[in-house]
Amino acid sequence: MKTAGSFLEALDRKAKMLAPAARATFEANRELCSWLLDPLARWAEAAYGTEVFDAAARGYAEYCVGVAKAKAIYEREGHYTPERMPEIMSGVYEDEGYMIPYMWAAILIYPFWPSMVSHIAIFRDEFIRKLPRNGRVLELACGHGVLSLLAAEERPDLQIEGSDISPPAIAVANRLLGVSGHSSRIHFDVKDALKIETQNGANKYDGVISGMLAEHLVDPTPLFSTMAQRVASNGLVFFSTALESPQRDHVYEYNWESRPLQMAEAAGLRVSRLASDAAAVPKGSKFLPRATAMILRSR
Ligand SMILES: C[S@@+](CC[C@H](N)C(=O)[O-])C[C@H]1O[C@@H](n2cnc3c(N)ncnc32)[C@H](O)[C@@H]1O
Repeated sequence: MKTAGSFLEALDRKAKMLAPAARATFEANRELCSWLLDPLARWAEAAYGTEVFDAAARGYAEYCVGVAKAKAIYEREGHYTPERMPEIMSGVYEDEGYMIPYMWAAILIYPFWPSMVSHIAIFRDEFIRKLPRNGRVLELACGHGVLSLLAAEERPDLQIEGSDISPPAIAVANRLLGVSGHSSRIHFDVKDALKIETQNGANKYDGVISGMLAEHLVDPTPLFSTMAQRVASNGLVFFSTALESPQRDHVYEYNWESRPLQMAEAAGLRVSRLASDAAAVPKGSKFLPRATAMILRSR
């Protein structure tokens, strides 16, 4: 059976330059990273066959090259220079050729990037494991669907609804779901996270997940309102975002951890845990790419 090692060996074959750093992050956090990668390897092989590991490694490499180029432009320009929203829709979210490799990268950065690995711990230990029994969970912008799948794997009592604006991403999520054994407890759908019906706030969830979405929005303020409206009074929100991390589809530039926190507070949420970790940057860089994760609750 395939395990975390299959992803690492594929990096050795297809992304040689990036493999040592990814392996170092994995080795320093082996138990946590294996918690994500072992089931993912099992689902990926069952859904796509053994070739998927090389494809995922190529997707990871292409993504890292794109990020490096965007970082160089950011240092020069002093601000994000994303594509316009219609071009992001057609060239990223609706384009299967771009989106599928991107989705492999989006999940592999969790165990392979030092700035992301703490998100796995917060998601598992302070969100999934603390949700009420028989809880209902809503995932906004689920992309590949792996966070929902891991939640279902860890907690056989949860019911989960995930959605994403990208049809190719939802196709990946559904393909992994189909082999995961969790089909009766998870439903994935194509939906804009900002157009989730509010039904006067009647439809509440015990858990709400919004991983790495806010930076993709022109204005993340309505996302915080949606999370605040949807989370039950004793429920939990897992929220994460990128700061000073340019990418072709990163539209909203966060520079300070206080900004998403203020947006959450203004929407009626309060933070009970926050972690923010940085990537390694060359000496003299103006910007420090970081990723922050929070647990939020209703006030
Ligand atoms: C970096 S990926 C994050 C995927 C996953 N949540 C994770 O943490 O790895 C960003 C995702 O946001 C989705 N997205 C962007 N704008 C959206 C919107 N308005 N509504 C729903 N999904 C959106 C994209 O399609 C993409 O799947």
